[in-house]
Order: sequence, then C-alpha cells, then structure tokens
Amino acid sequence: MGCAISGLGTKAEFGERRTEDAASAAAAAAAAVYPRDDQIQMIKESWKVIRDDIAKVGIIMFVRLFETHPECKDVFFLFRDVEDLERLRSSRELRAHGLRVMSFIEKSVARLDQQDRLEALAQELGKSHYHYSAPPKYYSYVGAEFISAVQPILKERWTAELEEAWKTLFQYVTSLMKQGYHEESERQRHLAASPRERPDKRSTAL
Ligand code: HEM
Repeated sequence: MGCAISGLGTKAEFGERRTEDAASAAAAAAAAVYPRDDQIQMIKESWKVIRDDIAKVGIIMFVRLFETHPECKDVFFLFRDVEDLERLRSSRELRAHGLRVMSFIEKSVARLDQQDRLEALAQELGKSHYHYSAPPKYYSYVGAEFISAVQPILKERWTAELEEAWKTLFQYVTSLMKQGYHEESERQRHLAASPRERPDKRSTAL
C-alpha cells in the first residue's frame, strides 16, 4: 500500500502505474480517429492560407499558451524567467520555437495521405518531448491555441466543419505523441533498472 500522506506508492505500485499509463496511452492512440478524406481536403486547403503567416501563428500560439497555462512556460528554460509576456512576442527564440512547431504541422499536413508515416513522425516527437520534460497533459492545449490563432487569418473561410477537421488532426497527433512519450519513459525506466542493458555498456563483445 502507498503512503497516504505523501501520496506516493511503493516502488512496485509506481512501476505498475507507469506500465498502466503506457498501456492506456497505447490504447488511446489505437482508438484515435483519423481525419476523413473530406476533412483532409479541408485541412490542406486551409493550410495554403495559414502557411503565409506561420511565424505569426507560432508566436501567437505560444504566447497565448503561456497566458492561459503559465505552468507550460516552466518547461522552457529559455522563457521560464520571463515575466512580461509582451516581451516574448518579439523574442527571437520564441519565433524560432514557434517556427519549429509550425513546420511540424506543415509536415503532418503533407503526410496526411500516408497515415503510417504521420504516425511514426508523431510518436518520435512524443519520445523527444519525454527528453524535453514536456508531459502529455499539456499537449491538447496547443491544438486549442492553434485554432484560436488561425481563425482570424481564415476569416469567413473558417467553418465549424473546418474546426472539427483541425481538432481531429490535433487529437490524432497528440494521442500518438502521448504514446511515444510513455514508450520512451518505459524504455528509460527499464534502462535505469537494468544498467547492463544500456547500449553504451559493452558487456559481452570484448
Ligand atoms: C501539439 C503539441 C506539440 C507539438 C506539435 C510540438 C512540437 C515540437 C517540435 C516540432 C519541436 C522541435 C524539436 C523536435 O522536433 O523534437 C518541439 C520542441 C519542444 N517542445 Fe514541443 N510541441 C508540442 C507541445 C509542447 C508542449 C505543450 C510543451 C511544453 C509544455 C512543449 C515543449 C517543448 C520543448 C521544451 C521543446 C524543446 C525546445 C525547442 O525546441 O525550442 N511542446 N516541440
């Protein structure tokens, strides 16, 4: 039984919980709905307009993310001490970061006709987010901020159907990112538990 005061479980319970997290993330990823063909067309068409403003959208998205969920800012060591969010709007680092995220969205849009490639891309991104210490509970916020940032750009072209299409894509990508994150977390836990299996320790071949 775990410690009721600290809220911590025993090592075995902790290990079990993490395996459950990984299993439920894998189940959620398997159940994630893929955008339908008509939604894929809508996303591609709207992307042609959005891409002209990707730097702007990237900045708006992250400044809003930090306004609405300040805890996300702490994950970024470059921005965690910046109190004045207005200063961030002109930050070169935030612009560069926003562009990295937007170019991932661009790649995802380009791979919408190759589901297996998009799946691999999103899982790998989840694995790298494990190493950035960016936990899955925050991922869904990004899709919501993306939608608020692109709506004014698309003006009257924005429709409830288009919003549904983008939401479906973000839910799909983020559920695979979560799966990748949990897989990597399991892999690291396993490596820590059995150091002899670490790839950098050549135990037999010498
Ligand atoms: C849909 C959700 C998200 C997407 C698509 C996304 C995408 C990306 C991409 C493409 C990179 C560049 C590096 C790489 O390719 O590995 C990156 C880096 C990073 N992300 Fe995310 N991200 C998401 C959510 C988040 C959230 C919610 C946080 C923090 C709370 C976060 C924190 C970071 C950090 C710390 C880095 C490394 C620093 C940097 O590259 O500037 N990410 N992300």
